[in-house]
Amino acid sequence: MTAAPPITVNGAAVAAAPRPGQCLRTFLRQEGWFGVKKGCDAGDCGTCTVHVDGVPVHSCIYPAARAAGREVRTIEGLTADGSHPVQQAFLAAQAFQCGFCTPGLIMTLAALTEPHDADLPRALKGSICRCTGYGSIRDALCTATRVDGDPVGEPVGRSHAAPGALDVVTGAAGFTLDVAIPGLLHMKLLRSPHPHARVRRIDTSDALAVPGVVAVFTHADSPHALYSTARHENPEDDPDDTVVLDRVVRYHGQRVAAVVAESVAAAEEACGRIVVDYEVLPAVLDPQDAMRAGAPLLHADKHGSRIAYPGRNIAAEAHSEIGDVTAGFAAADEVYEATFVSQRVQHAHLETHATVGWMADGRLVLRTSSQTPFLTRDALCRIFGLDRDRVRVLATRIGGGFGGKQELFTEDVVALAVLALHRPVQLEFTREEQFTATSTRHPMRIAVRVGATRDGTLTALQLRTVANTGAYGNHSAGVLFHSCSESLALYRCANKRVDAWSAYTNTVPAGAFRGYGLSQSSFAVESALDELARRLRLDPIELRRRNVVRPGDPLQALRGTAHDDVEIRSYGLPECLDLVEAALTRDSSAPPEGAGWQLGQGIAVSMLNTAPPGGHHAHARIAQRDGGGYVLYVGSAEFGNGTATVHRQLAASALGAHPDDIELVASDTDRVGHDTGAFGSTGTVVAGMATLRAARALAQLIADTPEPGKPLEAEGNSDGTPRSVAFNVHGFRVAVRPDTGEIRILQSVQAVDAGTVMNPMQLRGQVEGATAQALGAALFEHVDIDERGQVTTRALREYHLPVLADVPPTEVLFARTSDPLGPLGAKPMSEAPFNPVAPALANAVRDATGARLTELPLSADRVFVALHEALPAQRG
Ligand code: FES
Repeated sequence: MTAAPPITVNGAAVAAAPRPGQCLRTFLRQEGWFGVKKGCDAGDCGTCTVHVDGVPVHSCIYPAARAAGREVRTIEGLTADGSHPVQQAFLAAQAFQCGFCTPGLIMTLAALTEPHDADLPRALKGSICRCTGYGSIRDALCTATRVDGDPVGEPVGRSHAAPGALDVVTGAAGFTLDVAIPGLLHMKLLRSPHPHARVRRIDTSDALAVPGVVAVFTHADSPHALYSTARHENPEDDPDDTVVLDRVVRYHGQRVAAVVAESVAAAEEACGRIVVDYEVLPAVLDPQDAMRAGAPLLHADKHGSRIAYPGRNIAAEAHSEIGDVTAGFAAADEVYEATFVSQRVQHAHLETHATVGWMADGRLVLRTSSQTPFLTRDALCRIFGLDRDRVRVLATRIGGGFGGKQELFTEDVVALAVLALHRPVQLEFTREEQFTATSTRHPMRIAVRVGATRDGTLTALQLRTVANTGAYGNHSAGVLFHSCSESLALYRCANKRVDAWSAYTNTVPAGAFRGYGLSQSSFAVESALDELARRLRLDPIELRRRNVVRPGDPLQALRGTAHDDVEIRSYGLPECLDLVEAALTRDSSAPPEGAGWQLGQGIAVSMLNTAPPGGHHAHARIAQRDGGGYVLYVGSAEFGNGTATVHRQLAASALGAHPDDIELVASDTDRVGHDTGAFGSTGTVVAGMATLRAARALAQLIADTPEPGKPLEAEGNSDGTPRSVAFNVHGFRVAVRPDTGEIRILQSVQAVDAGTVMNPMQLRGQVEGATAQALGAALFEHVDIDERGQVTTRALREYHLPVLADVPPTEVLFARTSDPLGPLGAKPMSEAPFNPVAPALANAVRDATGARLTELPLSADRVFVALHEALPAQRG
């Protein structure tokens, strides 16, 4: 038999032949072409796009054998210096955030003959970017690139490029698994086929007999220490209800065993040969059912684990009354009440959860896709009984997170294997595992009651919330409290009441997700206020103006919660309302062609306290570099939030330097003292403040040391308190087609109060990205779970992540504020823009049609039904 001709990659013939059945993506990565990324392995996202004989293909579904005798070009082979016109356009428009999708997008667009004139929606119908909202990508390719200010001018307030931008567009940026490690072993996890079961017996003998299998770990090998997968500064914020490998499985998809083998294929085959004898236990899937007497209990034996009521499946609860709501409702001229339901949605960051670990000089080292390397190290030390100096955790560039990587989903089980085997081990989740076995946004059912006098003065606000935390309580308390806080604290009202529960069910766990519970409560409260305004015959914007919180007002929504360190020291909310109102008035986009479209507009407001309550700590270190410039060490991770750029801008401003003079070393537990992590809107205001203080200290040291003998170095710290307050107002104009329920967005505008705008292009990108992600959740995203508790949404194509064609442009406007609590006046604006989007859209649909949608997503069928239910009422 004649041997197949070799595959040529970027001009060089590859000696290795692909394995039978191997896809081109894994073959290329095996050969060291790490610019080829994995997003889905199903041809859905385009992240793995390469050229074969000049034609772009999704290499994850392209058989490697078919490339024999052909010329394959990866992003590394496009140009190494970023000189291709598409690379240049991406650099100029800063058309990426995490950058994980960027090589695939560039390869897709580079294959077009005239990318600037291309029909982008069609060209990118198979390409997903979860971060940018496509605004900057459109700018890069369709129109003159927008550049705010002089990129070589002042360090702050200019659109300086992200460090590593060239690496991102050339494929050289190193993400978590973009590293070649000799002798690497691969892990695969056997997962539960039942929503609730006890393992009676596991037989691993057949699995161990599979050639290449090195070890199989089960509950018998697991440390007994209980912990939460959630990462917070204070580990006691979350219930300790999890172990590395448990004898009881509480959701369909939970880990049962871990196989380590020389190849992924061997590990997968061995997983299929493990024989497990399960005692199937009764399961409960609905949170209200779970709290009823007699319901199956998930964690009944875990007293002392900080579970609110293990005997009632209540992971966390909150009850609070300020003033007297009964009296407040009695004083109201108008009362509106309804129940709002928000669904289970997924982060869908394109880089799946992944960790690679090894031993070095007797220390455990983990390279992981984590937003919290320091807290992850601390958790591993507790679980495995190790001293801190025996563990190093580092995060390189991270391919998106949105809160989903504020968890411990891969590091613990990889640590178990590396400590046992003393060999390098890698675990990379599939896209299916992302849906079935990580975390989602908490589905919530929120009953709102709101009352006001005839002039629109609020007299009472009441929430009754039931959240589904799934099988484990990670983030259950934090999300519940946060959900009930700023959405109510936003309004001046003497009488407020909250009753809220987060219940365990035998479903995939919920966890942290951009907005941290606020998007659900904002949907409820902002929809209810809109309806109240209509009943009072008041303009919804005017109702907000009369009732929103003002500087000096108490910001407490829940009695007894730690909000006394929150201060409104800058106040751009009125300006945001004015900006959105003016934008909606001046825009007059034509309605879609055809008869019957109904037009309307709506707005919603949201507020976010900077940083989580209870402390968030960052340490930074900066040193003069031999030969000039500085090296800055921070603990905070860059996962598309833009902090790598902002930190350099802050340091440069203090040192009278240019951001390019600052080399950044980030997110490595060996490099700085501590960093709570990149979550809770803290990357700029907490870690950035530590950077600014370190740089100012170094500047002072330089000034005080006229003739230094060696490079000088200084440190800075921040504890994130007092906390500032940021505001967002979103407005939509829509057209709704009554005979189909289709919503067309004619105009989308968001005004943000972010304090000093550190980097206009990057801030605009954060708002556009959050708006697009929120639109996906508002319009179509939904993780489905069947009656057996099994997640049935298992691929991106079943989930409908927004592609470019789905996302209208959003106009982003900045209020002119500067906050004395933030570094150089900045406030956070990465998660906040998500929160007002769904209620603003629902309010616009209500304005257009008369139908009040109380359940997300606002899918066409749901709108159609609601609209036809509303018609008789309207006629009546
Ligand atoms: Fe596109 Fe992150 S920049 S997925």
